[in-house]
Amino acid sequence: MINNLYLIACIGKNNELGANNDLIWKFSNDMKFFKEKTINNTVIMGRKTYESIGGILPKRENIIITRNKETDIDNALMFNDYESVIKYINNNPNKIFYIIGGSSIYKYFLPFCKKLYLTEVNANYEANVYFPKFNKKDYKENILHDYYEDNTSYKIVEYIRK
Ligand SMILES: NC(=O)c1ccc[n+]([C@@H]2O[C@H](COP(=O)([O-])OP(=O)(O)OC[C@H]3O[C@@H](n4cnc5c(N)ncnc54)[C@H](OP(=O)(O)O)[C@@H]3O)[C@@H](O)[C@H]2O)c1
Repeated sequence: MINNLYLIACIGKNNELGANNDLIWKFSNDMKFFKEKTINNTVIMGRKTYESIGGILPKRENIIITRNKETDIDNALMFNDYESVIKYINNNPNKIFYIIGGSSIYKYFLPFCKKLYLTEVNANYEANVYFPKFNKKDYKENILHDYYEDNTSYKIVEYIRK
C-alpha cells in the first residue's frame, strides 16, 4: 500500500462508471467534492479519461497514462506503463496522488490506494465501463455526505485501508 495514493470515483449501484466515453452522472455537490479533494494535488488518469474531460485539470499536476510513446500533451506528465507511475509516486512522498479513472487504471491501482473516495449513486445505468469489485471488509468506512440531486440520492463514502 502507498500512503499518499488515493482514488476518487462516482459509481452506480452496479459499479457503473461511464458510457460513450462520458460520465453518467454530473452532480454539482459531487463535482465540488472532486475539486476540493484534488485541487493542488496530482491527478492520474488514463488517456480516454483525459479525452473525455477534454483537457487537463487546472491547478493540479496531471499525469496521463498511454501506451503511445508519441503522445505529448501540454502541461501534463506522460507515462507509458503503470510501474513508472508507481516509481514516480514513491519518489514524491510529500505529494498527494489521486487516481481518477478510468476502469483499467482503477483496477490496477486500487490495491495500492490508502483511501478511496466513492460517490455511490442510488441508481442504475446502461454503462460500458465499470469500477472494479473490492472487499469492503479491508476498509474502515466513513459516510461523509448524503445528497439528493436531479431526483437521485447519492452518498460520498471514504474508505480507509485498514
Ligand atoms: N465515474 C467516474 O468517476 C469516472 C472517472 C473516470 C472516467 N470515467 C469514465 O470512464 C470512461 C473512460 O475510461 P476507460 O476505462 O474507457 O479508459 P481510461 O482508463 O481512461 O483510458 C484507457 C487508456 O489508458 C491507457 N492505458 C491503459 N492501461 C495502460 C497500461 N497498462 N499502460 C499504458 N497505458 C495504458 C491506454 O491509452 P492509449 O490507448 O492511448 O494507449 C488506454 O486506451 C469514460 O466513460 C469516462 O467518463 C468515469
